Amino acid sequence: MSKQLILALSKGRILDETLPLLAEAGITPAEDLGASRKLLFDTNLPDVKLVVIRATDVPTYVQLGAADVGVAGKDVLLEHGAEGLYEPLDLEIAGCKLMTAGVSGAEPAHARRRVATKFVNVAKRYYAEQGIQAEVIKLYGAMELAPLMNLADEIVDIVDTGNTLRANGMEPRELIAPITTRLVVNKAAMTMKHERLKPLIARLREAVEGRRSEAPA
Ligand code: ATP
Ligand code: PRP
Repeated sequence: MSKQLILALSKGRILDETLPLLAEAGITPAEDLGASRKLLFDTNLPDVKLVVIRATDVPTYVQLGAADVGVAGKDVLLEHGAEGLYEPLDLEIAGCKLMTAGVSGAEPAHARRRVATKFVNVAKRYYAEQGIQAEVIKLYGAMELAPLMNLADEIVDIVDTGNTLRANGMEPRELIAPITTRLVVNKAAMTMKHERLKPLIARLREAVEGRRSEAPA
């Protein structure tokens, strides 16, 4: 196993909050990530490289050892399964909730419930645990449209401010899981590169704790 450390970062909304934390832990990209079509980046440290990929691909890269460390939302990890990964640190960024939601004021359907979501595995598990029969319909975005168009009775989606639900005549129903962004580590790398990973995780932990103590109560 090479002594290089590869970090897989989720592009999109998590990236903007990840970079300052990495900087506090002593890692900065060698160039502006947004200004390039490149996907693999050097950093200020000769033995650390970054890949910036779709959030949903991060657990796969780390699980299969193409990256040693990853940064991904708990929602993505729950959906992927994330077997064979350590999750040593909650980065406490990009907080939101994974919830069920339905049309405002409507009773949840009692018979087989049609549920639209991109979190198919999470939804199947959740409704099974609740003892509710559900037909889970895979969508890739704009879940809030599905009940309006009578494609589904309910959705499973990320809720933050609730504005998207409200704007589409829907309301949150049940909380499935509170979500934040997590640091994940390949299990073999955790052993083989422990000397290199231990201080990195410790510095990130300090950065997270430092922010927590600065946050207004
Ligand atoms: P992709 O482009 O791969 O489909 P995406 O559009 O879902 O991904 P982003 O919206 O950039 O990606 O980031 C999604 C991640 O950000 C989620 O996995 C979640 O952990 C976190 N998150 C925090 N707040 C929100 C929010 N309001 N809506 C969606 N995701 C949020
Ligand atoms: C996300 C998510 C919800 C919305 C939640 O969508 O899927 O639709 O934000 O945030 P809110 O509660 O603050 O309104 P996003 O804008 O990322 O688009 P997407 O459907 O392409 O993921």
